Amino acid sequence: MAVAGQQSRASHSFTLPDLDYDYGELEPAISGEIMKLHHTKHHQTYITNFVKALEQLEQAEKDGNAEAIVKLQGAINFNGGGHVNHSIFWKNLAPSKSGGGEPPEGKLASAIKDEFGSLEKLIAKMNADGAALQGSGWVWLGLNKDLKQLAVQTTANQDPLASKGLVPLLGIDVWEHAYYLQAWTDYKNVKPDYLKNIWKVINWSDVSSRYEANL
Ligand SMILES: [Fe+2]
Repeated sequence: MAVAGQQSRASHSFTLPDLDYDYGELEPAISGEIMKLHHTKHHQTYITNFVKALEQLEQAEKDGNAEAIVKLQGAINFNGGGHVNHSIFWKNLAPSKSGGGEPPEGKLASAIKDEFGSLEKLIAKMNADGAALQGSGWVWLGLNKDLKQLAVQTTANQDPLASKGLVPLLGIDVWEHAYYLQAWTDYKNVKPDYLKNIWKVINWSDVSSRYEANL
């Protein structure tokens, strides 16, 4: 995030990250059409509005307008959080030909077994918590760095997992915009089906790297 007093918060400071795969490569778990819209429209809009809010903040700081600065915090948190969360989400996914869906190994696999009993139990918990989430939000596998302990947590809207004191390892977007188009095609029980199928394209190698980098 830009630092107060920084010379410029030009729009190129925050740009849409490229994906490591083509939009259609996560099918049938996630349709290519949804991936394209989610990346180019939804994520891009968070970035656009984040940059806009930061530019307004810069002006408010110059003007010494405390009221305007306080008022901008909501837009900064929401849109900045949207950028942070989606940037993690894209990396947490991979086509099956690139290892998507292959179970974790090593230290993360052991930690999941210790904390949840098995990978299947972790998945069941994240699916249940994600399905039960009211409104828009995310379900996460996070790390409590102090306790060196894994935890499942949900966040509302675009709150980043850091707001709950956890390091994000794996985030699943349970906003309707992540799956709604599949309501009329493959997914009858839309949200539970989306959650059930997304595990086929989870990039556990990326999740493991985030875990080991924070131990
Ligand atoms: Fe999203």
